[in-house]
Amino acid sequence: MFDVNKCKQDSGNFLEKVRGISRGKKQDNYEVRKRKIKDLPAILRILRVSFPHWYRRILYLFFPTIVIPANGTILGFVAVSIHERVGEIGIIAVSARHQRLGLGCKLLMAALEYLRRKKITYCLAKVRIDNEGAMRLFSKVGFCNVMLLHRPLLGDVYLMKKSS
Ligand SMILES: CC(C)(COP(=O)(O)OP(=O)(O)OC[C@H]1O[C@@H](n2cnc3c(N)ncnc32)[C@H](O)[C@@H]1OP(=O)(O)O)[C@@H](O)C(=O)NCCC(=O)NCCS
Repeated sequence: MFDVNKCKQDSGNFLEKVRGISRGKKQDNYEVRKRKIKDLPAILRILRVSFPHWYRRILYLFFPTIVIPANGTILGFVAVSIHERVGEIGIIAVSARHQRLGLGCKLLMAALEYLRRKKITYCLAKVRIDNEGAMRLFSKVGFCNVMLLHRPLLGDVYLMKKSS
């Protein structure tokens, strides 16, 4: 049976999405590209404020990295690695002022596209169990929890996986 309230709710959701898209014009205008050496200071700035033990993650920056540049700086980055046709999202971070604009999603999609072109069979990511925002982000683009990994010194993480 036709439900007026559900219809109103659906159209509300639709309008919200449309508003989201127009509000997200900024996000659609952002390009993604591979990182250049000159991007490193800006990437490091984001890294330092995003993770308490940021120095443990510096090695990821030697992996293929995709960035979102804007006005001579970097708004976010994602670094990936490939081992025996298995891709891994090593690290992803967006500048605090630009979070919740869809940039994390955009970076993740670009990383997955890059890995797909490299013909990986699936992609993994390790997400700390207390990082709800990141878990939601990964779920949103199709990652599923595979198992909980206990890491005594580094903190427990969910291993998440997405098929190519
Ligand atoms: C995780 C991170 C990369 C997300 O970037 P972002 O640009 O804010 O993500 P998006 O705007 O694309 O969000 C996509 C979805 O992820 C989820 N999400 C992102 N941040 C969230 C938060 N703080 N709380 C709850 N959900 C969140 C939401 O479902 C969101 O969709 P919605 O806005 O339509 O609800 C960003 O918060 C960040 O840099 N955090 C610090 C570094 C970090 O923890 N990296 C992950 C390590 S594995």
